[in-house]
Amino acid sequence: MGLTRVPGLLYGGDYNPEQWPEEVWEEDVRLMAEAGVNVATVAVFSWSRLEPAPGVYEFGWLDRVLDLLHEHGVAADLATATATPPPWLVRLHPEVRPQDAAGTRLEFGSRQGYCPSSPVFRAAAVRLARAVAERYADHPALVMWHVGNEYADHTTECFCEESARDFRSWLRARYTTLDGLNAAWGTSCWGQHYTDWGQLEPPRKAPGPVNPAQLLDWRRFSSDALLACFEAERAVLKEVTPDVPVTTNFMSVLRDLDYWKWAAAEDLVTDDAYPDPADPRAHVKVALSYDLMRSLKRQPWLLLESAPGAVSWREVNVPKAPGVMRLHSLQALAHGSDGVMFFQWRQARYGPEKFHSAMLPHGGTGTRQWRETVALGADVRRLAGVAGTETRAEVALVLDWDSWWGLEAPESLPSNRLKLHQLLLAWYAPLHARGIAVDLTPPGRDLNGYRVVIAPNLYLCTEEQAANLASFRGQLVVGPFSGVVDADDQVHPGGAPGPLRELLGVRVEEFWPLPDGEVQRVETADGRGLTASTWTEWLETEGAEVLARYRGGPLDGRPAVTRNGTATYLSCLPEDPAPFLDAVLAAAGVTGTELPEGVELCRRDGHLFLLNHGAEPATVSLPTDGVDLLTGRQLSGTVVIAAHDAVVLKHS
Ligand code: GAL
Repeated sequence: MGLTRVPGLLYGGDYNPEQWPEEVWEEDVRLMAEAGVNVATVAVFSWSRLEPAPGVYEFGWLDRVLDLLHEHGVAADLATATATPPPWLVRLHPEVRPQDAAGTRLEFGSRQGYCPSSPVFRAAAVRLARAVAERYADHPALVMWHVGNEYADHTTECFCEESARDFRSWLRARYTTLDGLNAAWGTSCWGQHYTDWGQLEPPRKAPGPVNPAQLLDWRRFSSDALLACFEAERAVLKEVTPDVPVTTNFMSVLRDLDYWKWAAAEDLVTDDAYPDPADPRAHVKVALSYDLMRSLKRQPWLLLESAPGAVSWREVNVPKAPGVMRLHSLQALAHGSDGVMFFQWRQARYGPEKFHSAMLPHGGTGTRQWRETVALGADVRRLAGVAGTETRAEVALVLDWDSWWGLEAPESLPSNRLKLHQLLLAWYAPLHARGIAVDLTPPGRDLNGYRVVIAPNLYLCTEEQAANLASFRGQLVVGPFSGVVDADDQVHPGGAPGPLRELLGVRVEEFWPLPDGEVQRVETADGRGLTASTWTEWLETEGAEVLARYRGGPLDGRPAVTRNGTATYLSCLPEDPAPFLDAVLAAAGVTGTELPEGVELCRRDGHLFLLNHGAEPATVSLPTDGVDLLTGRQLSGTVVIAAHDAVVLKHS
């Protein structure tokens, strides 16, 4: 069973018929059928066309669109259309516009311009969501609700008076008393002791660094404020259509929203992914985000948006070479997506996205793009049996949003160079290169289904999280600057690694970040030399064995990497963590596969995906025999995979 009642995999994209005269719609649905499209995302930005005046609805055009889609076998991922508030709402209530940290109200004229805390916006959005839900509850095309659009895109936070009020109630709910808040925020520092709730404000532009505990709560609050918008609409949709799955499209590995919390509020996870065709490492970065999507609910997810070719929002928008749209689509399937969808179906003639690629380009059906769209539709049908299959990972990377926000708070850290996404990628890349499946996990989830758990960084680590890591019976790896602060961003007594100290058998005496461009030599116990950059620490062991030491510089001879039982600690960032990773994998009994550079290997139950991201043919020895579902050929032994080509082996 797939994610919706559409059988097999989903194939389609965003469809914006309101940008076209009705005669074009007939051609659209005919061509959709030709390309094998079975789902379209509709009405994402249609508020001003569906409700042109307060409480006045014009559903006629959408009725016709949905009927046409259904007649041609295309299901609807129907939006509640609340992503862009219409001009009349903005002019009647100018305060729904978001305000930036410097106090400027942002003008209408783009999209997604609303204050997440605005009661006026929330009420109007919920009213439209109800009207849409009631209108289309029984429409046979409806298979999924799409709420908002890419929450936190354009508007991540709002600093207006309404947001301040909402922030204060959020803080009251969290701390109950002002004493609690003052203690948690450490307001004795820099004279910030609050004596009245009304004195609390969002962290607007201030003369100097803002209290980092306040910033951390602001990040939590801003994620929750947007989530409240989603949940308000979701409640209505569930009331009217309890059986229709509800989603909102995520934005890959995004710092602004706590996706563990968000995913728990959704029926299915959907993601928008735009790997840059100009970046030769893009397939590794996007693989990490796909694995996050699969891990959020530990089930298949859906690639809801991707680019058939070029996007329109980078400085230089490079198209996808022949075969790359297909390869990128197969990659999403390989990492657990139950479909392939694009932005967008028909290329726009106007607006900021008129040069963004589409499944059906300006040039029409006589184009390479269109031929690839049709061919991909056929491939997706060949892979229908992949829908619903699971991925089993033995290795997990720890990701925690509170910790991420703390780590990247500006102006208060020993170094601003530690960026969580990069730290995750540093461990993910070698695992990916070895064809080892990786899940992402929050630190508090039961970890004992894994053999290896890696926390590249856990700057903020609570006693409970540390206890959960300690209860993990497999091989644990912890990266530097971990266990530093508690949930209030206050340094643990005795310093790092705080609650992880006993587990790791080490104590960090001093953080020793490296200046930009400087490297530190590290030598393993068996004499191998490595270089570390960005970060080192003055480490004291308390029972741990030393696996590597610093050589040269102020830390010469001091421990750099340690092991305490099954827990390995790295106090630095080696440019290549492979020697430590391989030892940990071997100790855990996790085996990888030797793969040529650029070749990716992924498994879903009964299926093996081999994807050649390189520009040259690659020879791969198959770990199993089977039938290539893309070509129908029986394969065994070694295969040669052409550049940008793939094999999807069905095996027993
Ligand atoms: C996404 C957005 C789409 C479209 C797309 C273009 O961020 O959800 O509406 O703008 O980008 O790449």
